[in-house]
Amino acid sequence: PISTSINPSQSPHHLFSSFLLLNLTMVKAVVLGAAGGIGQPLALLLKTNPLVTELGLYDIVNTPGVAADLSHIATPAKVEGYLPPDDGLAKTLKGADVVIIPAGVPRKPGMTRDDLFKINAGIVHDLAVGIAATAPEAFVLVISNPVNSTVPIVAEVFKRRGKFNPKRLFGVTTLDVVRASTFVAEVNSDLSKSPEIVVPVVGGHSGVTIVPLLSQSSHPLPASSGTETLQALTKRIQFGGDEVVKAKDGTGSATLSMAYAGAEFAIKVIKALAGEKGLVAPSYVHLDADKEGGAVVKKEIGKELDYFSTNVQIGPNGVEKILPLGNLTDYEKQLIAAAVPELTASIEKGAAFQRTPT
Ligand code: NAI
Repeated sequence: PISTSINPSQSPHHLFSSFLLLNLTMVKAVVLGAAGGIGQPLALLLKTNPLVTELGLYDIVNTPGVAADLSHIATPAKVEGYLPPDDGLAKTLKGADVVIIPAGVPRKPGMTRDDLFKINAGIVHDLAVGIAATAPEAFVLVISNPVNSTVPIVAEVFKRRGKFNPKRLFGVTTLDVVRASTFVAEVNSDLSKSPEIVVPVVGGHSGVTIVPLLSQSSHPLPASSGTETLQALTKRIQFGGDEVVKAKDGTGSATLSMAYAGAEFAIKVIKALAGEKGLVAPSYVHLDADKEGGAVVKKEIGKELDYFSTNVQIGPNGVEKILPLGNLTDYEKQLIAAAVPELTASIEKGAAFQRTPT
């Protein structure tokens, strides 16, 4: 990102520091899969955020239309949309600071996220090849499921090209956190509190690998609630996605809430890139992104996993610190133990993926 202007309202002796701290930056955000159910509202939210000055949209269909439509919104971002012909992917990715990937197929009723592997693994692999070639330094945010496997797929593509920087790769698990906030507020019968409620959600992003740490919620559950409420709430957070898949009745999975969550995470990353300090968000990351912090997490989970979702501190170079899970209740320890086998298998499956030419 390049600094372009300063806040003129600052008094002169503050000018230099405000230049460093409050500088507006040029940020190019790219969405791959931008014409889809998540891609379109995500692109809209990015277009309406003044921190984004360039927005690149890529899909195998409809991106010129989506880009033309969004380009009429009176916000700073310059929007461009490309399709595969004539190096569309490379054109979209040129100069990207942040690349967000919601490309691929969503679930239908009865499907697990792992059922999507067959199709989405190849899609994510090929997009990662493009990113490694054109924007190897960009922050890569993976939404496409199964996230537990697609993040290792991206990492392997980068590793094979000698370009892997674990600090810059993020699996987006923000929707689990957003759901946890909402569902805890519902149990407390006060939805107005939901924006303030922070519940760490760790592990991975599918079923039992989603582990909400309700004992660390910023807002405790009502005193009257017992084990049953805790277990029901945990299950609802783990399988909240199924509620949407069922209600959409075969037409897809969460798109609008995911776009909201994806934009929230992406904007946090963009703010970190622009120099804002102390930004913390849970994300599914390679535990080598911060070897010291990663080693603590491995000890806490009792297994040498390469990837895990936990709170991470993000800075201008990506992951600065992997934060520990902290004090866990016996119930939460059991949930983590139950998450580890599925997570291990999903990571191995992703890391072992090889593209067979189609
Ligand atoms: P969708 O089918 O509405 O959109 C996907 C888009 O990807 C389509 O526009 C399609 O044309 C495009 N696409 C397919 N192959 C492509 C390629 N090779 N290059 C570029 N674009 C390509 O699906 P939706 O609902 O937007 O979901 C997308 C993904 O996000 C799914 O894998 C879904 O499981 C996942 N998801 C992840 C969540 C999370 O919390 N991380 C939450 C909800 C969904």
